[in-house]
Amino acid sequence: MRFVRALNTCAFSLHRRVISKHFLHCSLLKPYIGAHQFSVYGTMAAVADEDSLRRALAQKQSSIDVQGGTVRQLKSSGAAKLDIEAAVQALNALKLEKASIESQLQVALAGAADGGSSSASRDAFRQAVVNTLERRLFYIPSFKIYRGVAGLYDYGPPGCSVKSNVLSFWRQHFVLEENMLEVDCPCVTPEVVLKASGHVEKFTDLMVKDEKTGTCYRADHLLKDFCKEKLEKDFSLSAEKAAELKHILAVLDDLSAEQLGAKIKEYGITAPDTKNPLSDPYPFNLMFQTSIGPSGVSPGYMRPETAQGIFVNFRDLYYYNGNKLPFAAAQIGQAFRNEISPRQGLLRVREFTLAEIEHFVDPQDKSHPKFSDVAKLEFLMFPRDDQVSGQCAKKLQLGEAVSRGTVNNETLGYFIGRVYLFLTRLGIDKDRMRFRQHLANEMAHYAADCWDAEIESSYGWIECVGIADRSAYDLRAHSEKSSVALVAQEKFSEPREVEKLVITPIKKELGLAFKGNQKMVTEALEAMEEKVAMEMKADLESKGEVEFHVCTLGKNVSIKKNMVSISKEIKKEHQRVFTPSVIEPSFGIGRIIYCLYEHSFYTRPSKAGDEQLNVFSFPPLVAPIKCTVFPLVQNQKYEEVAKLLSKSLTAAGISHKIDITGTSIGKRYARTDELGVPFAITVDSTLSVTVRERDSKDQVRVDVEKVASVVREVTDGLSSWADVLKMYPLHSSETAEE
Ligand code: ATP
Ligand code: GLY
Repeated sequence: MRFVRALNTCAFSLHRRVISKHFLHCSLLKPYIGAHQFSVYGTMAAVADEDSLRRALAQKQSSIDVQGGTVRQLKSSGAAKLDIEAAVQALNALKLEKASIESQLQVALAGAADGGSSSASRDAFRQAVVNTLERRLFYIPSFKIYRGVAGLYDYGPPGCSVKSNVLSFWRQHFVLEENMLEVDCPCVTPEVVLKASGHVEKFTDLMVKDEKTGTCYRADHLLKDFCKEKLEKDFSLSAEKAAELKHILAVLDDLSAEQLGAKIKEYGITAPDTKNPLSDPYPFNLMFQTSIGPSGVSPGYMRPETAQGIFVNFRDLYYYNGNKLPFAAAQIGQAFRNEISPRQGLLRVREFTLAEIEHFVDPQDKSHPKFSDVAKLEFLMFPRDDQVSGQCAKKLQLGEAVSRGTVNNETLGYFIGRVYLFLTRLGIDKDRMRFRQHLANEMAHYAADCWDAEIESSYGWIECVGIADRSAYDLRAHSEKSSVALVAQEKFSEPREVEKLVITPIKKELGLAFKGNQKMVTEALEAMEEKVAMEMKADLESKGEVEFHVCTLGKNVSIKKNMVSISKEIKKEHQRVFTPSVIEPSFGIGRIIYCLYEHSFYTRPSKAGDEQLNVFSFPPLVAPIKCTVFPLVQNQKYEEVAKLLSKSLTAAGISHKIDITGTSIGKRYARTDELGVPFAITVDSTLSVTVRERDSKDQVRVDVEKVASVVREVTDGLSSWADVLKMYPLHSSETAEE
């Protein structure tokens, strides 16, 4: 999740990207946070096993050392051959026991790290997916003929179709369903906007450089890789050391530059490519800078998120909505982040598509009229307390999570539920998806609550959607910087009497005391929150003088009783003016699509059993093409029927492709399975044709004139393949499949 978080009352930073030395002193004191770096599957049992196995391994090693000493001693003292042989046998037995513990540990580690699969099998699986994706042009490394650029990818034809299907479902599921106001703002953004939002100052990651070659690395990634590798591969690691490394993994996001640097030094981490020493970590701003216009005097940036475009338009959108809250605005567009060392393929890139929703709501009423639609949903949730106490993600009912206060409010809960439905309908495996709540330190000070939809892939758990209650932070920041009030009003039907805090700085006294600084002290006094002001009033009455911190001066000043009057007065009000809170679901479309590729991919043996055939089991909603049409053999009659079918499919709005190549029908099926096409129509007569479903490979026979409507019903989800099987005769194909 990206957002601005407070370090103290007047400084702030952006989530994860910005590491604050002000508050991170507490992160190392945080209790061990167990499972969230690991799989949901049986993690705690694996962790417990791992500890005892590490201890057993250490004990076995010391027994081996002792026994080795005994053997050496027997040999050097010229002991009897039988005695030496017995001692060597005992040593070998110990070594065998050690090897057995090592392999148990290996299994426990694989279980803890990835639901039971080893890192080698994860890599092999990923390689198979990525090879298929690249070979079939789902995506292409950009500028490939010039050797490409890290972190930039093109989408090829099937990739574009999948993306456009995902985005049109997003529009239907969110924009249409909630009557959201969609906007489309420029990527080039003037500096002033991103200064107000805090990005210019704080949108940074910590970087280290190879001291000899100058190659740059993300400091936290190097430390993470080191810890993971040690935990997975170093069997001599003591249980205590293993716990320390896991703790570092759990608090990695929270480490300050100093803490990261200290750990890198302590563990002797060097540049991965050259083994050269590394510099100390320092912040690197991830925004691509540019200048607007030819003069070069007007700085700008490529936007790192789409949200700011919505915030700056709030006043107009609120008016467009009839000055009514709540309402949501949405935007789909490119975002740019100059990632330090992009890796993990499509998961961490330098230009990507974001789909963001900003739902504006009255901070005093965050209920949602449609919450009951999602309240009964149950899925994996990982509340902050469970992370801190080392438990696993578990299934919770959303309604209960909200009523117990685990999820802060109904609107946030509503969006969590809608995101769950969105992802599962796309084809994300519900057992490999969880909603993880941000830890207290991870969250912005102003944020009421934040949950990330994380999806498990061969790279581990990946944040794909961030859902944050950002309170009023962004609108306030832009109101302040632009001097345009980004506020909403609630008109009262009857005027209300309200008790109001009235702070009146006595300018004359303040002027005498603070001279040139008077304005800043006055503003700070006026900006006091009610609680602070009432405390000051009490202190002034009892002591006559108080110390007061003025952020803009960066120091404390002494305020005397005659410098300010603080009181509460009853006033009549006809309306309430307030800055709305915003709840923001933010979707990384490329990450979702990549996880979908992994969750949909499988291989099955060819009929001859001599090769593995690749299949993407996309639901029809996502599939790049809904069906293919194959004349069984090359003849004019069948090709005529194929053309006719193509016309009726087009009329029914079904994307399809005719393949008239002379290749065997089985090969043509295999080719389209690899693209994830759910249905294949084979023309083997002029009256009826066969329709084959990709995953079951079942075929039914359907009259030519009915085919388009049958395919349309199943692709639109109006009927299922099981319904089709009941209605049409099964066609058994003995020979076709490869
Ligand atoms: P991460 O910690 O993984 O870098 P983030 O916290 O910076 O992510 P946000 O700022 O919350 O991410 O961005 C919103 C969404 O944008 C994320 O949930 C993610 O899906 C996506 N996203 C962020 N950075 C990238 C990137 N470099 N490449 C692809 N998608 C990204
Ligand atoms: N439907 C033609 C075949 O599979 O043989």
